[in-house]
Amino acid sequence: MLNTQLRHMLQAMPKAELHIHIEGSLEPELIFELAQRNGVSLPYPSVEALREAYAFTDLQSFLDIYYAGASVLITEQDFYDMTMAYLERAARDNVRHAEIFFDPQTHTARGIPFRTVVDGIWRACQDGPISATLIMCFLRHLPESDAIATLEEALPLRDKIIGVGLDSSEVGHPPEKFARVFERARNLGLHLVAHAGEEGPPAYIESALDVLNVERIDHGVRILDDADLVARVARERMALTVCPLSNVKLRVFDVMGSHSLRRLLDAGLAVTINSDDPAYFGGYVNDNYLAAFDALPLDAGHARTLARNSFEAAFLEPEQKRAFLAEVDAFFNQQH
Ligand code: ADE
Ligand code: ZN
Repeated sequence: MLNTQLRHMLQAMPKAELHIHIEGSLEPELIFELAQRNGVSLPYPSVEALREAYAFTDLQSFLDIYYAGASVLITEQDFYDMTMAYLERAARDNVRHAEIFFDPQTHTARGIPFRTVVDGIWRACQDGPISATLIMCFLRHLPESDAIATLEEALPLRDKIIGVGLDSSEVGHPPEKFARVFERARNLGLHLVAHAGEEGPPAYIESALDVLNVERIDHGVRILDDADLVARVARERMALTVCPLSNVKLRVFDVMGSHSLRRLLDAGLAVTINSDDPAYFGGYVNDNYLAAFDALPLDAGHARTLARNSFEAAFLEPEQKRAFLAEVDAFFNQQH
């Protein structure tokens, strides 16, 4: 349960965010502003009407509206403004470092040049108030050949991207569909992550590990259905980037009180807390910490573990990682 001291601790502790889709940080107000700026017409009369449409029944019902929202992004400045708004908001939650997902295919399919997308997001990361790096996600509902073409298109901008991921509709699109493109990305020295075990079964987590060779699992909350896999993932210190508010909004769990987060921690898994698509799911990263700690038996010890895990699992140079972890330890050692 959440008392005032724990609430303050969760808000003030230094943290990393490792699972945030930048297109999912687009607030309805900014969607309307960009629509007006670009002369794009929206099928909603007002900001309020758009927000009211955010009543999701599953992952697909969210994705349909999320891709529609992203259609207002046209110019490099649009991508810059969206990213800067997220970075400034994350800084207020004491996020020190963010690894930001973006979905280039959502934009290139509409005729937006690849470079416009990456340059806008990347320039905001250079100018923004916190450390931030980029992970390019492939849309798993599209063929692997599209993902391969996207990776080839990214090559001139290789230095602006630290890794690749896999997102969009999970069930029916198992990780092994993307074996070749992940192998190519690995040969390019890119970090590898994939959404797995959000709506899909533990077998998708296993093939993300064994076929794609990922270094983190995004979501992974369904892992508890397979005890052997839990033991393996715990032993390998493979991190899960868990997004509590997302899981409740998309009905992976009925209510926060039945979320598996505490059980995942008890199983020794390297759990982190993240916001996924904060504009759509009712909150940024601190809202996710607060909602989880409010509904589940979690205490200050768990807070410290989660903050440490977020930096341990980050794709940072050892020196930077040590510095951030020292900051976490100093923060908690000051608490009493
Ligand atoms: N794209 C944006 N958010 C996502 C999620 N939670 N799962 C899969 N794809 C996504
Ligand atoms: Zn996600």
